[in-house]
Amino acid sequence: MFQPTDGGYTNGYHHDAAAAGISGGHRVRRGRSRVRRCGGVGSGSNSDGGARVSQWQQQQHEDEEEREKPAPPCTDFDTAYFNSYAHVGIHEEMIKDRVRTDSYRNAIFQHQNFIAGKVVVDVGCGTGILSIFCAQAGARRVYAVDASDIAVQANEIVKANNLSDKVIVLHGRVEDVEIDEEVDVIVSEWMGYMLLYESMLGSVITARDRWLKPGGLILPSHATLYMAPVTHPDRYSESVDFWRNVYGIDMSAIMPLAKQCAFEEPSVETITVENVLTWPQVVKHVDCYTVTIQELESITARFKFESMMRSPFHGFAFWFDVEFTGPAVFLLNNGMPPSFVEPSNSNMTEGNQRKKRPNPNEALVLSTAPEDPPTHWQQTLVYFYDPLDVEQDQVIEGSLTLSQSKENARFMNIHLEYSSGGRSFVKESVMR
Ligand SMILES: C[S@@+](CC[C@H](N)C(=O)[O-])C[C@H]1O[C@@H](n2cnc3c(N)ncnc32)[C@H](O)[C@@H]1O
Repeated sequence: MFQPTDGGYTNGYHHDAAAAGISGGHRVRRGRSRVRRCGGVGSGSNSDGGARVSQWQQQQHEDEEEREKPAPPCTDFDTAYFNSYAHVGIHEEMIKDRVRTDSYRNAIFQHQNFIAGKVVVDVGCGTGILSIFCAQAGARRVYAVDASDIAVQANEIVKANNLSDKVIVLHGRVEDVEIDEEVDVIVSEWMGYMLLYESMLGSVITARDRWLKPGGLILPSHATLYMAPVTHPDRYSESVDFWRNVYGIDMSAIMPLAKQCAFEEPSVETITVENVLTWPQVVKHVDCYTVTIQELESITARFKFESMMRSPFHGFAFWFDVEFTGPAVFLLNNGMPPSFVEPSNSNMTEGNQRKKRPNPNEALVLSTAPEDPPTHWQQTLVYFYDPLDVEQDQVIEGSLTLSQSKENARFMNIHLEYSSGGRSFVKESVMR
């Protein structure tokens, strides 16, 4: 949960752009793994030999090529990003987010039948919490990978819990470390604000293409980003109208600057269903088994809403959910969906997840929607400088493009074109 630097509603951890490079990484402990150099070429051979290549062989060949691709360079931005995760506060906040951590724990134990006796890679292990859940669920070996210095702490935590024989902490980028075996399971908490901010999903894709066995399991398996138009008069009033009368002084001259400062960049904050003007629409559905890195570089979605009430329309809200289901082949191989087994020492499975999963065969969902219990992701709001008044049933339509910033792929450009009541607008913002 790398935090955007909007200086607004979030308490952002500051980026340390001057931090030392981590290129190449540093391995914390032994294991069937090593760190590969950025730009290095992996081992292995391919074997199509010019003969008729079956689809399976073709896939093997493509996977092999994927594995041999040089790792992308580790930029100063990446270094600053990993440094932000060396701070204990960011991990404390994530772990204390019970909705998040309970969902992962439940998902891991829901898939215990699949995980027991298997090899897992935890992409971005942080303190090692998900790796340890996997070990508790019976994993034979867990590779806990993190490029941030928090990996050093993870290694100490693993040792203190007598799990060093099972959990191997690798201090380096997923793109750089070597694991000399295929894995059965990938677990990762990669979701940023607005789902795609911080671009960590690309590293999960890299891990999948490098190490996941055919039919392996990815947790979470699917993710969906939603958007909806919102009204938020209180927010507008406290940031803009406030300047009309400040201790009896008319400071409205500052209002254009106040609007710019408050609404130029996306804002991470909590809204309620009362703020939402219509049912949400899907911006992007991600299948973690098949999504590609290229597909995430730029995403465009068209939208059309009908306001359910007469109201000032202040902007759009974004939120996401992730689902923890197996791939089709996983379900076929096992003949039935995985059973749900709660950890014996569980004191963390509260109402929220039970309510979301009344049927034990249903996929577990971690939701960040305004109608669901709050999470540290909250919702992301893109406000307009001035609200637009809409009538009940008035159409709001347009398009949204989310693209990785050229300046820093972890930043996200948001390009919104929308029209309503015969007027058209464009709103550009960057989540940085
Ligand atoms: C959102 S935190 C999750 C931490 C932990 N898994 C948890 O659930 O509490 C993401 C972690 O992934 C690490 N990370 C992100 N991209 C990575 C990469 N390419 N290679 C290794 N670690 C990465 C970050 O340093 C950070 O510690």
